[in-house]
Amino acid sequence: MSYPIERPRRLRATPSIRSLVRETELSVNDLVQPLFVVQLPGKTGRSPIASLPGQFHLSPREAARESVRLTELGIPAVILFGLPGFKDAVGSSAWAEDGPVQQAVRLIKAAAPDLVVITDLCLCEYTNHGHCGVLKGNQVDNDATLELLAKTALSQAEAGADVIAPSDMMDGRIQAVRRALDQAGFINTAILSYAAKYASAFFGPFREAAGSAPAFGDRKSYQMDPANREEALREAALDLEEGADMIMVKPALPYLDVIYEVKQRFERPTAAYQVSGEWVMIETAAAAGLIDRRRAKAESLISIRRAGADFIITYGASEVAQWLREGAFTYY
Ligand code: PBG
Ligand code: ZN
Repeated sequence: MSYPIERPRRLRATPSIRSLVRETELSVNDLVQPLFVVQLPGKTGRSPIASLPGQFHLSPREAARESVRLTELGIPAVILFGLPGFKDAVGSSAWAEDGPVQQAVRLIKAAAPDLVVITDLCLCEYTNHGHCGVLKGNQVDNDATLELLAKTALSQAEAGADVIAPSDMMDGRIQAVRRALDQAGFINTAILSYAAKYASAFFGPFREAAGSAPAFGDRKSYQMDPANREEALREAALDLEEGADMIMVKPALPYLDVIYEVKQRFERPTAAYQVSGEWVMIETAAAAGLIDRRRAKAESLISIRRAGADFIITYGASEVAQWLREGAFTYY
């Protein structure tokens, strides 16, 4: 037999043969668009977010208009973040019936009933200290926070949210939220748990956009140590035991190994969040003329899918949906 026996290049020769043997696909069905809803007196319409190129602060009404557009593009889901008009120590705007997220959910469900509306559940956008829970001294008080999270989840479900996504990283929050929902009769409201959420430097542009940076200290006593893998599996196991329907790994690209293992081990719907810093890195390098913007985005998203994510929360959802539609989205 002549050498080499196997020639992998045979299957790379043309676009057609490559598409025939491609193992992973990215579809519009896998994309979730984050929306930032602002509630400020006199603020209507949209305004660009300086730290997140191509993203906007939206009034609740504008969020509904945008949701209709996203539905027309075929995007199946949005995840909502709120910027309230008022902050206090416990984050009471988080569960206000007329809070930014609650208002937006009602308007979106009326305008685009088929769109899956996911609400991020956390307190950091609503507390005047910017931590994800209530404080006892300088510490975040886990169990006192659970009650407020449950109350907030309930207000989001009452507004019509389809999926509640706790991102606070308190212990026991999935059980607390599931119980509160069930007791109030919201047995069909699903939970997407940010199960493995790392204390990451890549959240910077988001905190700018959401006004949610901690006023002191950091989030290392509740978000995970980037060095840990086993702990991510433990977190995912706990959240599933407590009743999570879907689990998430966040950020995505620096944690592809974690996505892979979580999907392999638990065989549950698994999401990945391509976070603000991951997105801005591509935008900035592309703006400097150093990388091809579209290809870099395509390659990063297909990598996240290849690692095992079923769907991806990405600031590029709307743009990528358009590219997919035009057949202009290639990573090879
Ligand atoms: C709120 C929350 C954060 C993100 C999603 N939900 C910020 C944080 O934990 O500080 C980050 C999203 C992103 O960077 O795109 N807890
Ligand atoms: Zn938070």
